[in-house]
Amino acid sequence: FRTLTAGQPAAAATPAAGKASAAAPVEPFSVPLTIPPVLAPYRRTGTADFYRITMRRTGVEILPGTRTDALTYNGSFTGPTIRARTGRTTVVQQINALDMPTSVHLHGGNNPVAHDGGMMDTIAPGGKRTYVYENEQPGATLWTHDHAHHMESEHVYRGLSGLYLLRDPAEDGLGLPAGKYDVPLVLRDAQFDGNAQLVYTMDDAENRTTILVNGRPWPYMKVEARKYRFRLVNSCNLRIFVLALSDGSATQHPVRQIGTDGGLLAAPAETPVLVLSPGERIDFVVDFSKYAPGTRLTLANMLGPGPTELVGQVMRFDVGERTADSSRVPDTLATLPALPKPTVERSFELSMDEPGSGGHQAYINGRTFDPDRIDTHIEWGSTEVWTVTNKSATVPHNFHTHLVQFRILERDGQPPYPAETGWKDTVLLFPGQTAKLQLTFDSHRGVYPYHCHMIDHSAMGMMAQMKIA
Ligand code: C2O
Ligand code: CU
Repeated sequence: FRTLTAGQPAAAATPAAGKASAAAPVEPFSVPLTIPPVLAPYRRTGTADFYRITMRRTGVEILPGTRTDALTYNGSFTGPTIRARTGRTTVVQQINALDMPTSVHLHGGNNPVAHDGGMMDTIAPGGKRTYVYENEQPGATLWTHDHAHHMESEHVYRGLSGLYLLRDPAEDGLGLPAGKYDVPLVLRDAQFDGNAQLVYTMDDAENRTTILVNGRPWPYMKVEARKYRFRLVNSCNLRIFVLALSDGSATQHPVRQIGTDGGLLAAPAETPVLVLSPGERIDFVVDFSKYAPGTRLTLANMLGPGPTELVGQVMRFDVGERTADSSRVPDTLATLPALPKPTVERSFELSMDEPGSGGHQAYINGRTFDPDRIDTHIEWGSTEVWTVTNKSATVPHNFHTHLVQFRILERDGQPPYPAETGWKDTVLLFPGQTAKLQLTFDSHRGVYPYHCHMIDHSAMGMMAQMKIA
């Protein structure tokens, strides 16, 4: 992975558009980027904002001029964005107007079990549920998605995911690009049939070849020649992105990463590529004033479903005129607390039935998920070091914990990349890789899952439970 990311010109990547959809072949960069609607609270008090969302089946326009049947939050594909503030409470009433159970998980949120949207804690068809989020954590790009056991993979694929942007008062003084210059980019892939309908086949990474950003295929975005903050979310079931900016030449265009899953980095990290596996988020800043008006920059994925396959374009930025820009990226973004001394060490091995073996199960420490089993008992208040290894020969995995944001101590015995030194709740592991994570369990008590966030794998059993007591 280190060699793969070292300077492959993104221009070498061929757009995969042609074969992506029989119904409506889409020219890459022919559809404008849209921004998911921001949900307005129906009520506000001094300390809380109240929202209502209905989960329903709706026809949405994904491929231009067509209707795709999707499972949606409030009818929007990429659900509506909730904007929350650290220290203020968000209350979301979720109404399930679908004909199957759902569960709404706030990914990256530090919430009590009753509001975590667990696998078995579902909302029956026709039922409703109120989730309360206290937002006692640093500002971060969080997202909500379905988590109903054995259905999450298909539900998320068919549309049940949305953004939850938590802003911290501590961010206000930093001067980062804000307002319309703070742009979410929710990435995912999909397979469409001849009628522009989503095709869902469990664990089928190869055929999900249409790349969507905020629900539109390979969009373009007109940008001013100034700084923008982008918040990337990988909401794919399986696809990993290794993203680079390219102007078509072999020149590298590093970007400044400012945040990870759980919040801002201590300091910006200059990086040639942005590596993002399912569930992960990256905040980064691009200064388009470095480019002449008229420049077209593509965001390209250097990684295909196979280990070396190039999969192509994601979206394009069309640089316009230079405009006034008083935003900045300060050298110090946040203070990450010192790591407490760990008292417990554990190891976790991720594995699954290898492709072609005929088996379709996936395991953590040799066991598939059992909702009636507690796999890990944790003492409240303690700090632990977890060594997580991907034992699969060919399949990448990642490792996601509910409740806690952890820190990566090591990757294969080496220090983590600068861009992953912040708060993380999901860590990518290519075949054979090991990561050491440090976790402190000092917020809520109860039973929470941890799992591979390539959610077809967690649906196949790569999930387990920890009890914090
Ligand atoms: Cu984003 Cu348990 O998941
Ligand atoms: Cu996996």
